[in-house]
Amino acid sequence: MELQKFSTKTEVAHGFSAYLEELITKNKTTHIALSGGSTPKVVFDYMAVHCKDLDWSTVHLYWGDERCVPPSDAESNYKMTLEHLLSKIDIPKDNIHRVLGEDIPELEAERYGKVLEQELPIVEGLPQFDLVILGMGDDGHTASIFPHEINLWHSENNCEVAIHPDSGQRRITITGKVINHAKTVAFLVTGAAKSEKVRLILNKEEGYEKYPASLVAPTSNDLIWFMDEEAASELSQ
Ligand code: 6PG
Repeated sequence: MELQKFSTKTEVAHGFSAYLEELITKNKTTHIALSGGSTPKVVFDYMAVHCKDLDWSTVHLYWGDERCVPPSDAESNYKMTLEHLLSKIDIPKDNIHRVLGEDIPELEAERYGKVLEQELPIVEGLPQFDLVILGMGDDGHTASIFPHEINLWHSENNCEVAIHPDSGQRRITITGKVINHAKTVAFLVTGAAKSEKVRLILNKEEGYEKYPASLVAPTSNDLIWFMDEEAASELSQ
């Protein structure tokens, strides 16, 4: 595991954007699962300016989780990604593998699980992403696997239907078997509200296992935490 600390959220965006650009240009990284929420917005805005001339023709984008809403809904991770990145780069439409948030969740979880099987390389019997980008909630959730449903992490399925603990909003999420099979996993974690869980999880303090983010441990061992000082503030220097 590697920790990449930056002074601010904007610097995390710059640092991660440079990292991703190198993966795409040098490592020919192809299959990337995006995360939702607010942190990626800053990254996408930066990439839309600094990576717009990148050759995106071989990059395929997926979502690690999506809210069960239409793509026009303000809550849609796809809508956020379209506005902040996809509308500003030259990427083939067929390379965008949207989760159909408008469809029946149980059917879409099954369909998207099959999409992963069809589109991704199958390595040791499982679909393998080149890169999975994850966020972490203040409650230690990641993708859309929340502490109250941590059992979803261990699902035999590639995707599951999750329920947000506060809003009750249904979401489609990839599961632990897919996340930990990725070649590389990158956490984007910023803000003081994350600092306690970052410390708990990285220091493996008592009870850390109840937070889904603590279960992210790719078999490749290639896990990088991109954090700002606020999120990393409770870690010993
Ligand atoms: C989502 C995300 C979610 C997010 C975390 C962190 O759909 O909301 O996938 O897992 O990554 O909640 O969100 P922030 O980056 O906004 O803190």
